[in-house]
Amino acid sequence: MSVLDSPPLYKQLDPSGMLGHLHRFPEECRRAWDNSMRLGLPSEYASVNKVVISGMGGSAIGGEFIRRLAVLDNSVPVAVHRDYGLPPFVDRDTLLIFSSYSGNTEETISCFTESLSTPARKLAITTGGKLKELAQQEGFPVLAIDYASPPRAAFPHSFVSLLGIFNALGLIRDKTADSQETLQVLGSIAGQAGQGVPLASNPAKQLATQLHGRVTVVYGAGLLTEVAQRWKTQINENSKAWAFHEALPELNHNAVVGYQFPPEVGAGAVVVLLHSPLLHQRVSLRYHLTQELLARQAVKHRMVEATGRSALAQMLGMVLLGDYVSLYLAMLNGVDPTGVPQIDYLKSRLSQS
Ligand code: F6R
Repeated sequence: MSVLDSPPLYKQLDPSGMLGHLHRFPEECRRAWDNSMRLGLPSEYASVNKVVISGMGGSAIGGEFIRRLAVLDNSVPVAVHRDYGLPPFVDRDTLLIFSSYSGNTEETISCFTESLSTPARKLAITTGGKLKELAQQEGFPVLAIDYASPPRAAFPHSFVSLLGIFNALGLIRDKTADSQETLQVLGSIAGQAGQGVPLASNPAKQLATQLHGRVTVVYGAGLLTEVAQRWKTQINENSKAWAFHEALPELNHNAVVGYQFPPEVGAGAVVVLLHSPLLHQRVSLRYHLTQELLARQAVKHRMVEATGRSALAQMLGMVLLGDYVSLYLAMLNGVDPTGVPQIDYLKSRLSQS
């Protein structure tokens, strides 16, 4: 029997309950959607012509997802600002959204402070911290996240809140029907990849077993570009493991040439190719040709197919699957998926100087 099929392992290695957050993922998406519908923003927020989302790490990835959906819908331009300061093009026609789970991330607070001299429409998404306090002082809207978890496990809230806000303001095409479909896809992924499903029939446990002891490289394209990034960061933070991500078709113009050296790197890597039937057909062809090149260099690889009809369902379904993979990989690595001591160390050292 695989260790992944042993319930005591989870009790021992996951005392803070990261697995529970994954089980609640579909329900938290539903709750976040309802929450965001209750926010009620001033009507002038709907007349902006661009959106900037300021955030870092687990609080920024939701911004990347909404940026992708806005591109697919050919709607408003969205920029994700993962840095100190403020992009120079922010003006009165900009909706500036500060996303920080803790409300204390210094890059996001720096952006907030600089933004006060601009006439941009502003909005904060947070559980509290300095961000909530300052936003309330300045008198602009705050969407309060009421879910206790590590920031990255609050992804249903940080992303779906943005989705609900964009939907309510008419900044993307109406996502009500796609949201319903997404909940069905998430339910089915949870049914296939949950902890109670044995390795023999569990795609997430099988993939984690293939990644164990190797460097993971995640490839995505189009609607799955940011999903590949989410897989990478979840493997870093939950599994405490090396992982990288790249995007097609760009990687066909450089990365494929580098499979050869050093030979130990190729021999110790696994490339996971996240594929969607919605991709451009030439990009799909590139997935197959890239697999041929990987096979020629004897680099292990696996294609994972997204399910669902809409882009939203495919993206979120693949996020949940990747989150399960990273959790099982943490179990195989014998580590607690929750703690991120290196991030805590950096934040605490930075706050001292
Ligand atoms: C921790 C995590 C980190 C944080 C990041 C920003 O679970 O995922 O990437 O999200 O350090 O912190 P917050 O989200 O509090 O602004």
